[in-house]
Amino acid sequence: MIVLAFESSCDETAVAVLEMDEKSGIRKILSSLVASQVSIHALYGGVVPEIASRAHTEAISSLTENALKQANITVKNVDLVGVTAHPGLIGALLVGVNFAKAYAYANRKPLVAVDHIMGHVAAAYLSHPALKPPFFAMVTSGGHTSLLSFTDFTTVETVGKTRDDAVGECFDKVARTMGLPYPGGAEMDRLATLGNPKSIRFPSAAIQGDTLDFSFSGLKTAVINYLNTCRQKGEEYSKEDIAASFTKAVTGAITERLHEAKDRYGFTKFVLAGGVSANSHLRQAVLAFGKKRNVQIYIPELSLCGDNAAMIGAQAYYEAEAGNFSDFSLNPSATHRR
Ligand code: KG4
Ligand code: ZN
Repeated sequence: MIVLAFESSCDETAVAVLEMDEKSGIRKILSSLVASQVSIHALYGGVVPEIASRAHTEAISSLTENALKQANITVKNVDLVGVTAHPGLIGALLVGVNFAKAYAYANRKPLVAVDHIMGHVAAAYLSHPALKPPFFAMVTSGGHTSLLSFTDFTTVETVGKTRDDAVGECFDKVARTMGLPYPGGAEMDRLATLGNPKSIRFPSAAIQGDTLDFSFSGLKTAVINYLNTCRQKGEEYSKEDIAASFTKAVTGAITERLHEAKDRYGFTKFVLAGGVSANSHLRQAVLAFGKKRNVQIYIPELSLCGDNAAMIGAQAYYEAEAGNFSDFSLNPSATHRR
């Protein structure tokens, strides 16, 4: 089956073409294009929703043409159209959903709505061709921090989540306070490698008690307060040590929750996904958890960690296999899953 997929939930316009056939074990990306708006939003230190919508509108048409060309196919070969319908910035989602609807209607193709969070997890199917549910997963991105239990390709239960900031948002806000360019996650990763993770004690982001939830706002405030206090007192501080200690607090909280989730649910396969899964320290910590607890770890290749349409195409295929088609009344939602 040839899938044409669209992603426009935040600040990347993405179009991909996939060949998928579970029976023959084919999960192949024929093309995957991403038009990033990062340089535009960097001027403002964060994503400006109205600008994001406009940039999606400008990019999506030619990106689609190029994705088909690179995949060496024409519209005739497309069997299925998939699109991110939730969650995300509503104006940004509207661009992708309306484009996909128009494309499917004009070319008489079936349409599937994809949940962005499930899409992030589906990136792991492309990097690990043998991976199949059931498994546990964690999506760590700029907008989401969710611990998920997948029973099959389209059935998921949220067992833990952040109650305030997402982990990537926390990386970006701390980076911004340190004067690093937006988005600061990747630079924090590099600095953390050079610093001493034991030099500063920051609070855990794992909420105490009978819960698998997180709170990242307290950790963020603690790092910002530390920086401001140093500046007010005129004391020297090391960006490397702050990045390393902050990263240790993040990875420590996540692995603590993974150990608890393993105790409760006893899973044997775990998927780490989302933009923050590109973080080298988090990847190492999760791999170490897997080794210790005999859990097989699956993390997408770096090019599929951040927002892309290949992951949306993969999930669209499994939604179609499960019969979850949409009609042309499909509307995006900023929040809800289905
Ligand atoms: O998945 P994504 O592209 O978009 C959302 O769905 O939110 O994630 C973007 C987030 C940003 O917050 C970015 O700073 C973070 O992923 N990120 C990283 C790294 N690379 C990207 N965070 C920590 N370490 C990294 N290496
Ligand atoms: Zn995302």
